[in-house]
Amino acid sequence: MPEPTEAKTSPRITTSGDLEVSTYLEIAEEKAGAKSVRDAPPAPSRETIVVLDFGSQYSLLIARRVRELNVYCELVPYDSPWERVEALKPKGFILSGGPASVYDQGAPQAPSYLYQSGLPILGICYGMQLLAHQLGGRVAPGDKREYGYAQLHRGAEPSLLFQNLPPVSQVWMSHGDRIEELPSGFRPLAFTDNSPVAAMGNDRGIIGLQFHPEVAHTVFGREILRNFLYDICGCSGTWTSGNFITESMERIRQQVGEGRVLCAISGGVDSAVVATLIHHAVGDKLTCIFVDNGLLRREEAVRTLDTFQRNLLWSIYPVDASDRFLAALESVVDPEKKRRVIGEAFIRVFEEEARKLGHFDFLAQGTLYPDVIESATSENKAAAKIKTHHNVGGLPSNMQFTLVEPLRQLFKDEVRRVGLDLGLPEEMVWRQPFPGPGLAIRVLGQVTRKRLETLRAADWIVMDEIKAAGYYREVAQVFTVLLPPEVRTVGVMGDFRTYGEVVAVRAVTTDDFMTADWARLPYDLLARISNRIVNEVPEINRVVYDISSKPPSTVEWE
Ligand code: XMP
Repeated sequence: MPEPTEAKTSPRITTSGDLEVSTYLEIAEEKAGAKSVRDAPPAPSRETIVVLDFGSQYSLLIARRVRELNVYCELVPYDSPWERVEALKPKGFILSGGPASVYDQGAPQAPSYLYQSGLPILGICYGMQLLAHQLGGRVAPGDKREYGYAQLHRGAEPSLLFQNLPPVSQVWMSHGDRIEELPSGFRPLAFTDNSPVAAMGNDRGIIGLQFHPEVAHTVFGREILRNFLYDICGCSGTWTSGNFITESMERIRQQVGEGRVLCAISGGVDSAVVATLIHHAVGDKLTCIFVDNGLLRREEAVRTLDTFQRNLLWSIYPVDASDRFLAALESVVDPEKKRRVIGEAFIRVFEEEARKLGHFDFLAQGTLYPDVIESATSENKAAAKIKTHHNVGGLPSNMQFTLVEPLRQLFKDEVRRVGLDLGLPEEMVWRQPFPGPGLAIRVLGQVTRKRLETLRAADWIVMDEIKAAGYYREVAQVFTVLLPPEVRTVGVMGDFRTYGEVVAVRAVTTDDFMTADWARLPYDLLARISNRIVNEVPEINRVVYDISSKPPSTVEWE
């Protein structure tokens, strides 16, 4: 029975963070025909849980939850070959949910190595129905679809999975089919009003759950997953930020050897963590470049350089390329063309500056796990989406690098934890995402120095007030947009009429930037923002607040 389909998402970029700079370079590398040599696979000694992805909207969430419990976890397509899975040395498997019904023609099946491995298995929703179906039980279409909250009653038999849980607890259901007959050797472990078998298990550690332990609505979901990982799979919780840093530095040293590494810093958390890890590992074999494209917010370039110098005690090579970017953008008004022009200029600046700094063997990138993951359903990777977005040029053939990507296995929240453990300052670790094309896509229409300054002044006030009110970490992104110069509105200031420009304030809440809602900021905060902007920024006499969600709108206006 299908899970509810995800809201139709916009074809725009899904990146959240400073993936952009590395993505420009990655695209340029690919266009130049470079064959990238990736980071080494995880150390074989690492405890790993493998999630076989059957296409649930929650698959990635399962992997995150497992990692939050300090157990390393990888999400792989359900039909991954044994060689790939074996290389991960799994301690157990989780089968995700999925939109299919076991009786659908061509319904995805679990591979036979799963059952031959003798390892513990946790099947969730469709994963559970598959276990029942493939191990000789009977699954039937439920006459009543169960979606939403349900009360889970533990069965009479004790089970490791439910130890330390109350007899009744709230769970989150999303299924139609249900188990009518258990496979031999299995016992029912729990039930709800609509599911006589809401959980089942056998003595070999094969378990099925009809509900979703990974979602926050399942109140004891975390405990259930913990019991599976620690008491059934025998994991001991070695996936910690400290261990990651040690392992990762060792791997970087092995990969880089005596070579030289180049890294482009954007001011965001991903590139900062990459650079710091590599610097800890190989010291001054690393050179960092920071390109000021003239499209940054007020004081951003100075502050970024200063933060690095002050906190990390090593310097980065600053490049002021603002003239070049602004010249290239002159008279460009189309948003996609702005992006292309900026991407192209970035590559050319990077190439020229890198040449001045000598020969490099490696290019460091802040690629994260969600960008590289090969999910059974995710239609594409973030990087690939950006690629269709930015028609950037390639690097010249005599400038080819091997990639160093130490964050390829991390989720964003893990990157932040590593950043904090590496001693990066909070303002860097918790910086909100800022798009690669910067203010060029927030100055609607033509981008000029004057208009950029007007936007910077207004944006500074918005950030100032948001931070002072303690909302910076409450919202995923907050920023200001300057409406096109043709839009002027009448105002009155003292005895004079004004005819000024308009800014929009945008604040959104979201987990993944694929969908987003406008933030319900308090009225008095909005009032302070608006008063200060019209009083302190002479060009502006009107402030509007954007109350659109994504979809159908996007986060950015251009
Ligand atoms: P949209 O506007 O597509 O934004 O809903 C989703 C997230 O992506 C950011 N964004 C970009 N990031 N280059 C980037 O690096 C871009 O061209 C770009 N366009 C949007 C946006 O700020 C939000 O975080």
